[in-house]
Amino acid sequence: MAEASARFVLEEGENFDLFVVSGDVATIGTKESIAAAFNFIDDKRVHEYLNSQWRPTLGADEERFFLVPGNHDRYRDIFGGTASPEFDRAFTKYWRPTHGVQHRVIQDGDSHLAVVAGDFCLATDDEASGLNRLGRGKAHAEVVDEMISRTANLRGKYSDLIAIWVVHFPPIGLPWKESPLVLIDADYFRSQAKRYGVALVLAGHLHRNQVDLSPNQTPVICGGSMCVCEGTDHNWIHGIEIECEGGEVREVRKNDFVWNDNVGDFVGTSFSRIL
Ligand SMILES: [Fe+2]
Repeated sequence: MAEASARFVLEEGENFDLFVVSGDVATIGTKESIAAAFNFIDDKRVHEYLNSQWRPTLGADEERFFLVPGNHDRYRDIFGGTASPEFDRAFTKYWRPTHGVQHRVIQDGDSHLAVVAGDFCLATDDEASGLNRLGRGKAHAEVVDEMISRTANLRGKYSDLIAIWVVHFPPIGLPWKESPLVLIDADYFRSQAKRYGVALVLAGHLHRNQVDLSPNQTPVICGGSMCVCEGTDHNWIHGIEIECEGGEVREVRKNDFVWNDNVGDFVGTSFSRIL
C-alpha cells in the first residue's frame, strides 16, 4: 500500500497544487515510529518512488506537502498516553505551528486559497478519561481562535481569499458506538468555521470516505486512510478540485482514488461535483 501511495504521488503529483496529509502518519509517537513515518514522507527519491534503501517514499516535497498531526502521532505509549513531543521534533520541515496553527496560501491567477491547519490533539491525559482518550481530540478554544485570527489576517492581505480549515478530528456527529472518536467541543469549532466564512473543512481520523453536508454548516470532507492495513473501509486518496472566482467558491469536485486489489493500485473515476 505504501509503495502504491508513493507511486501515485510520483505519477500524479504534477496534477495537484498541494498534498494535504490529515494526520496519524505514525502508529504511535515513539521516536522509532515517528522516524519511520518521517522517512516515508521525507526520504529522497533514488529509484523512481523508492529511496536509496529501495523503500517507498513520498519524495520530500516540503513545498507541496501540508501536514497536521493526529492522535496516533502524539501517543507516548501503547496505552494512549498523550502529548508525545516526538512529532514536533521530527517534522519541523512540515509542521511549524504558532499557537498550534500553520497555514499555506495557494495562488492561481487572481484567486488565493488559504489552507489553515489546527492541532486538536489532547494536550494532557486528563482532557479525556482513561482509554476513552485514545480516539479523542479537543477543539481547544485558543487553537480555534488562532485559526480565526490567522484567517482574518490573510483576508486582510488578500482581498479575494478563500479559506479552508484542516483538522485531524472531523467536527461531525457520530453514531453512539463511535462516541469515543467524537471531537470534544466540535460544535464550537464548526460554529466558528461557519461564522467566519470558511469554505470547507478537511479532516481524517475515521478511516473512511465521508462528506458531511449538514444544513447551515460548513461542509466537512473526511478522508479515508491511505496506508492502513486493516479497518472497515478501503484505502483512499482523495483528489479535490476547488473552482474559485472573485473570492467565491463556484464548485467543489472530488475524485476518490480507492485501492483496488485486482489492479494493485489506487483507481479513481472522475471528478464529480459535491458542492
Ligand atoms: Fe486519528
